Amino acid sequence: MQKVIKSTDINKDLTDILGQLSFDKLFILTDENTDKLCYPYIAENEQIAKADKIIIKAGDNNKNIESLSSIWQYLSENGATRHSLLINLGGGMLTDIGGFAAATFKRGIKCINIPTTLLGAVDAAVGGKTGINFNGLKNEIGSFAPAETVLIDSVFFRSLDHQNFMSGYAEMIKHGLIDSDKEWKATLSFDTEEIDYEKLKQLVVDSVAVKERIVEVDPYERGIRKALNLGHTIGHAFESLSYEINKPVQHGYAVAWGIICELYLSIKHCGFPKDKLYKTVHFIRQNYDGFYFDCEHYEKLYQYMKHDKKNESDTINFTFLSDVGKIEINRTANKEEIFDSIDFLREGIGL
Ligand code: GLY
Repeated sequence: MQKVIKSTDINKDLTDILGQLSFDKLFILTDENTDKLCYPYIAENEQIAKADKIIIKAGDNNKNIESLSSIWQYLSENGATRHSLLINLGGGMLTDIGGFAAATFKRGIKCINIPTTLLGAVDAAVGGKTGINFNGLKNEIGSFAPAETVLIDSVFFRSLDHQNFMSGYAEMIKHGLIDSDKEWKATLSFDTEEIDYEKLKQLVVDSVAVKERIVEVDPYERGIRKALNLGHTIGHAFESLSYEINKPVQHGYAVAWGIICELYLSIKHCGFPKDKLYKTVHFIRQNYDGFYFDCEHYEKLYQYMKHDKKNESDTINFTFLSDVGKIEINRTANKEEIFDSIDFLREGIGL
């Protein structure tokens, strides 16, 4: 099982982990940003300072076959063997591509993820999903390949700008909704303007624990792991379209909007309580502005949902909730209902 360490002293924990693992050569993967902003935090560790460093371009648009190939190339030309170890230091893009490079190089080498964004820490770095974008589709190529260890230290979150912070926070709202009233209330009552980092640390620990519990039961997403897709069926469509029309939105913003739509559908299909929808909508509206899609985009959004890899046969696959913490996987909704849910998101009408 993947070990997730919530660190308060990253260099000490890193030294301990490296001492426990056997490997012949150490590589560290960063992108242009994490190399400048995050690498210095761990460079005082002697082994890290001596490790071979691979730097790739930052940004989800670089989570592609060219960047992947450059990682393979570096490993291959610099003496990596099946017994080498790769440390992935970065956000979701970096741990996704680094995890996939590690999973495929010489049929698989060990890796450690050190997420440097909130989104990476509460979602991407944990649970073993790795991959790259391909053919215009997000995460089209990939594998389930858990990192040996995930080392989470909130020291990195202090330098996040507000949008990046909120992007990760959307996944925490999702975890609250699928887990329990307690978690859900805790996420909605957190002050996202004046961030209390001590409080945030505990919230992140609890949020990661929600994901860990689910992944432990269903690592390959055959059943209950689909709970983690709440907000993502419509959210991914928002995100993909935003890239297509050159007005990119952050993943978590698309997910937050997707959560509103999918809770609306949860009311229609499973009787999710309206008051809980309104409370969630209130928080999301206050924190995730900037929605700009209109009726002209609906058909295109629908086509993205039809091609979502979570679908089986011809139906669009959703995760709904009948209440906070009561998960309904493998549900579907028709086109008209989906369009109604986007109307609800845009104008608050339809209930
Ligand atoms: N991001 C959802 C999952 O890891 O299953």
